[in-house]
Amino acid sequence: MNNPKRYLVTAALPYANGPVHIGHLAGCYLPADIYVRYLRAQKKDVKFIGGSDEHGVPITIRAMKEGITPQQVVDRYHAIIKESMKQMGISFDIYSRTSNKVHHDTASAFFKKLYDDGLFEEKESEQYFDEKANTFLADRYITGTCPVCGNPNAYGDQCEKCGSSLSPEQLINPRSALSDAVPVKRKTKHWYFPLQNYEPWLKEWIIDGHKEWKNNVYGQCKSWLDSGLQSRAMTRDSNWGINVPLPGAEGKVLYVWFDAPIGYISATKELTDQWADYWCQADTQLVHFIGKDNIVFHCIIFPAMLKAHGGFVLPDNVPANEFLNIEGDKVSTSRNWAVWVHEYIKDFPGCEDVLRYVLCANAPETKDNDFTWKDFQDRNNSELVSIFGNFVNRSWVLMHKLCGGKVPKLHEDILDEKDKALVEAIRQTKTKVEGLLEEYKFRDALFEVIDLSRTGNKYMQEKEPWIVAKQLAENPAAQKSIDNCMHLCLQLTANLAILINPFLPDTAKKMLGMMKVVDKILDWENAGSVKLLSVGYSLREPQLLFRKIEDAEIAAQVEKLKAGLIKPNESKVEETQPQTSIPIAIGSKPEIVYDDFAKIDLKVGTIVSAEKVEKADKLLKLQIELGTETRTIVSGIALHYQPEAIIGKQVVVVANLAPRKMRGIESNGMILMAEDKDGKLHFVSPENMINAGSSVS
Ligand code: 2FM
Ligand code: ZN
Repeated sequence: MNNPKRYLVTAALPYANGPVHIGHLAGCYLPADIYVRYLRAQKKDVKFIGGSDEHGVPITIRAMKEGITPQQVVDRYHAIIKESMKQMGISFDIYSRTSNKVHHDTASAFFKKLYDDGLFEEKESEQYFDEKANTFLADRYITGTCPVCGNPNAYGDQCEKCGSSLSPEQLINPRSALSDAVPVKRKTKHWYFPLQNYEPWLKEWIIDGHKEWKNNVYGQCKSWLDSGLQSRAMTRDSNWGINVPLPGAEGKVLYVWFDAPIGYISATKELTDQWADYWCQADTQLVHFIGKDNIVFHCIIFPAMLKAHGGFVLPDNVPANEFLNIEGDKVSTSRNWAVWVHEYIKDFPGCEDVLRYVLCANAPETKDNDFTWKDFQDRNNSELVSIFGNFVNRSWVLMHKLCGGKVPKLHEDILDEKDKALVEAIRQTKTKVEGLLEEYKFRDALFEVIDLSRTGNKYMQEKEPWIVAKQLAENPAAQKSIDNCMHLCLQLTANLAILINPFLPDTAKKMLGMMKVVDKILDWENAGSVKLLSVGYSLREPQLLFRKIEDAEIAAQVEKLKAGLIKPNESKVEETQPQTSIPIAIGSKPEIVYDDFAKIDLKVGTIVSAEKVEKADKLLKLQIELGTETRTIVSGIALHYQPEAIIGKQVVVVANLAPRKMRGIESNGMILMAEDKDGKLHFVSPENMINAGSSVS
């Protein structure tokens, strides 16, 4: 939108059924916060809306499992989530919750208006009911055997083993995930929203009107619209949620995906009496930040609801991120494969900006990405400490040493090409960062800022003011060149504070402290200028912006992650999935470039010995001949092969995999296995015997 008068920025309301993990931050809270901080620095009128999503099946299930009430569940997690957001500097103007009265009233009134306008279809259908738990079952809470691959633990909406989208009716031997009872079919009445009626309008609005949306978002919308929309039930049988405001609807509540997005409206109402300006004036730019699993709800269902209701603005953009994996594996709250934000804050006090940095630098903006603790350490040590922090620190130390702790003069008459190039780089970076932020390209914007500090280091290295200082006795005029170098480095530092502020607000604040200036300097319009710090102004001693992160801290985190992992047979029902039977596209692994593949050192090896590992049914300890060496590799194939039967077999080995201890034995590599449809593993072997150690590519 050109020149909106005000901005309304929302970030998906997390379910209050557990704490938030770093995937949540990277998915939507951090990008939303960066965007909002940027807008605020530009003095735009902006409201940043967030809150907890406190209804829906995930909450009731957790309550049932813990033997507490749903209200107790949401009270506990709302508080934890709110605090985590605050600690991480996610600067909501309001962080509300959907169990608030204002939200119940707003969502009820919204539903009632659509009902009164005759926009719902009333339908009776048969749904699975758990007679033991006395409740209807959402698709996710019915398990059974997958008709496609035979997995005995498939869910009523999806088989996680083969990726098929399912409906509960397709499951063989369905059971309730709550009580293990065999569910029975019962008739129930619900109110359906006929999405198909909005299809022509949605096509025009999105397919023709929002070609600028991110490819992942636009693509998902297009595929939904191409396959045709259908009526969707907007009510559920449950006693937790917002009661359906109609006579004869006892025991029925609004579908959580009907009420949750209305939560953005109710939270704005709670925040300001002027809420209608933000929601109902055409010159508002509404932006929803979400994760990719929320795309259909924010781009299709909620806009159709808003359109049906009338009088509301529609989102101008929905910059959804993909998912962040952890150490190569999908985040799973049920397997506890996650880095929890509240634990990070405890383990790395004062390092909130480091996490913000790594999550932005690694943001899954266009495809799923991976968070690894090693990368976290590398980015901290070699980018924040060695590039950004180093430049600021060197400038400050030298300014105290060579310029008496004051901003030296700029002698325009002797500015050389390098000085001028630095001034130009400062000016250009501001323009580039601006353009990228406005296109929601936060990673690239951050890289530009880091690149500017890299340019600063290079400039200082080339100018070598500390060497020039040694010549002052013979050549006092050289002070002028020192002054110019230090003057520009200080102005560059002030610029870096402004530019880094949306990304790393605590760091910007520390830099303000060193510069002894007030927040006002962080106004975006100041970026690009080299007249921010006045000549003669005395500056404080340097403060270390980032500390080095040690190997031991990283090892401890990796260990903690692995130790906390809950194995599949101990796992409980996934609780963070939306209550939905919308097929979720199961992507294969994210695309890689050749260089990613080339990092893997694959070699043909010959098994020279094999033995069972004590007290581990599935493991075999193998000695594998690789030409120049024999490796010990522990492999989970004991249920598939007898040790004596595989001696002499050739296999493909990942030879450069970091060693890992399994049952006390160090395993130095991994062998590749293919899994057939019955779950049986087979070696991947060369067609004919070849030399052990031959490389595979
Ligand atoms: O996926 C989720 O975590 C949902 N609770 C997001 C809701 S966003 C909005 F609609 F409220
Ligand atoms: Zn399956």
